[in-house]
Amino acid sequence: MTNAHQNQGRSQAGIASAVVGLQWGDEGKGKFVDLLAAEHDAVVRYNGGANAGHSVVVHGDRFSLHLIPSGILHPGKLAIIGNGVVVDPEKLIDEMDNLAKRGIDTSSLIVSDRAHVVMPYHKAEDEIREDLFKAARTESPKGSLSEIGTTRRGIGPAYAEKAQRATAVRMGDLLKQDVLRDRVTKACTVRSAMFRSYLPGEQDHGMHDALNAEKVLARMTTAAGRIGPRIKETTYLLHDLLAGGKRVLFEGANGTLLDVDHGTYPFVTASSVAVGGVGPGTGVPTQRVSKVLGIMKAYSTRVGAGAMPTELFDELGQRIRDRGREYGTTTGRPRRVGWLDLVATGYACMLNGATGLALTMLDVLAGVDQINICVGYRTPGGETSRFIPDGVELARATPVFKTLPGFKEEIGTARKLSDLPPNAHGFIDTVQATLGVPFDFISVGPGREQTLDLRK
Ligand code: IMP
Repeated sequence: MTNAHQNQGRSQAGIASAVVGLQWGDEGKGKFVDLLAAEHDAVVRYNGGANAGHSVVVHGDRFSLHLIPSGILHPGKLAIIGNGVVVDPEKLIDEMDNLAKRGIDTSSLIVSDRAHVVMPYHKAEDEIREDLFKAARTESPKGSLSEIGTTRRGIGPAYAEKAQRATAVRMGDLLKQDVLRDRVTKACTVRSAMFRSYLPGEQDHGMHDALNAEKVLARMTTAAGRIGPRIKETTYLLHDLLAGGKRVLFEGANGTLLDVDHGTYPFVTASSVAVGGVGPGTGVPTQRVSKVLGIMKAYSTRVGAGAMPTELFDELGQRIRDRGREYGTTTGRPRRVGWLDLVATGYACMLNGATGLALTMLDVLAGVDQINICVGYRTPGGETSRFIPDGVELARATPVFKTLPGFKEEIGTARKLSDLPPNAHGFIDTVQATLGVPFDFISVGPGREQTLDLRK
């Protein structure tokens, strides 16, 4: 019997925590994963793929990570990509090379052999589907049929392939030439039939090339040559770490309102973003996660299509966008901006069982005369304080606001709660009281040092 078997069911010693976004992504999770990584031994991604964009500023240097867990920036910490992630091997190599160029050691990176591979044809399919939906967006009711506004990174098609099984490729398969050849050849044959009208064509988004099985095999074999040594079994690894008393931090990508089951469907991503995704996405039972830090911005943003009841379309929205640098890390797209929606974040706290909160980008609101906070929705069926996890229904809701006085002072140099102006306190107190979860951190700028740690 191996050691790992003997450990079954008794991995109680270690500590498992999670960081999750409580809005539509881009809440500033990267900064907090980076900060908490210092207190953990391993940082683990459990969902999503290169659609995520985590920015971390270390000593004034900005790092943008998409696939690699933000913990990589701390020497000596394990950075694990769990089985629930979909991995674009070429993007992963780019990211490793870019970090290496900047002096970051990536030797502690491990990728689950059961994580699924995002293939070139998944990316082409993502593009083609989005374009087709855009063309079909005409006389449909508000909030319904239109493109999702995906990141076009092949995320949805890769997860669909995982669910369809027969033609899916997992990271471990990259190291088995016969399996890889069989799966890729079949996938290309099936898709060639499905996408016949695009092959070749001006609008094929590279699908013609992506369905050349030999070319795909050559690219994947080259990639496997680089990342092969990183591809490992990760479920026993994680249980062994926990059994050995290690501290493991799970890093949620995207945002809870983009969760495939609980978000604003169909305008969501394709994975389980909320902390419930830890179980299927890593093999560690979700109930092992004892601390869940929910990250929320002082306002809302959203990238891509889908309802956002508090959206601002005026100059103030633009001002917040510019001050908050609200342009996508992954796609560069300007983010939609709106007031803080406590109905939505409250729902996300509930879904994740958040034990603490981090408020980010509070500094961006400095100089705003009056700050609105959404505390309910008006709907055709009456007023409600419950979230509506349906993209079409939510589009019919309008916000009920509570208005608070703003603060004029710049707060980027604040280092403790008492450094904040009274109206910033008023904002923090209202949010905390409404959500019923304490703030562990308040962030007043991108730097590691611009963080008020309220846990002490
Ligand atoms: P996909 O994940 O590329 O399929 O995109 C689905 C939706 O999720 C689109 O609206 C994207 O803009 C959004 N999305 C996916 N990942 C992120 C993220 O990390 N931050 C913000 N939006 C995201």
